[in-house]
Amino acid sequence: MVDRKPLIAGNWKMNFNHLEAISFVQKLAWTLRDAKHDGSTVEVAVFPPYTDIRSVQTIVQADSLDLEYGAQDLSVHDSGAFTGEISGAFIKTLDAKYVLIGHSERRQYHAETDEVVAEKITAALRNKLVPVVCVGETLEDLEQHGPSAVAASQLKVALGALKADDDFVIAYEPVWAIGTGKAASETDAQNVAKVLRETIKDALGAEAAEKTRVLYGGSVKANNIAAYMRQPDIDGALVGGASLVLDEFASIIQYQKHIGV
Ligand code: PGA
Repeated sequence: MVDRKPLIAGNWKMNFNHLEAISFVQKLAWTLRDAKHDGSTVEVAVFPPYTDIRSVQTIVQADSLDLEYGAQDLSVHDSGAFTGEISGAFIKTLDAKYVLIGHSERRQYHAETDEVVAEKITAALRNKLVPVVCVGETLEDLEQHGPSAVAASQLKVALGALKADDDFVIAYEPVWAIGTGKAASETDAQNVAKVLRETIKDALGAEAAEKTRVLYGGSVKANNIAAYMRQPDIDGALVGGASLVLDEFASIIQYQKHIGV
């Protein structure tokens, strides 16, 4: 079995200006250092607003922090007359590793379709960014189609833009669990993660399915992270609200200390 390095990712959404970002990242690094956290066992990434990324880059590089970062979105275009858009090429120039694509808030408030998501995946890969592709069902979808159908169908379209040797991450985020405090049960999250891994296998083969990390997101907290991380098909978490609270996020990152294995 391939060793998938767990990824704990903090999606800051539209929170923290660049000064707050600098302060948070520094405090997070100190907290983890004081706790003697072993950064080699879990990858940590933050997704700040665009205006913070340069500041985060400066701190990470100046202090050689064991922290990756990425953008929350990108344009399908690399340059040109697209007012307000941000190019993947610019994000890459800031040494970002990742970019979130198709977060439910983008799908919901910015009418991003599965086809736009696929185009953004292509733009990310073209600029050597690792796409973190978000999929997940609304409460209505859940009631009509069950937990995995919508996520799997969104993923199928996304996989059309990916090849077996591309580096990408999938985040299963049930929309009804985001910011609500109503997290999916670890069993349901595991079942969907398994279906998503099978969907990757059908499209890109067994090797791609084995190496690709599948995250769970939606009301992840310090007190439920361990239950997800015990599941065989869940390789990490995409954390929103709790990633803005220093001790909570530091505790989520150190889930191995409270996982009980
Ligand atoms: P939440 O958000 O952890 O606040 O539920 C998760 C997300 O939107 O990525």
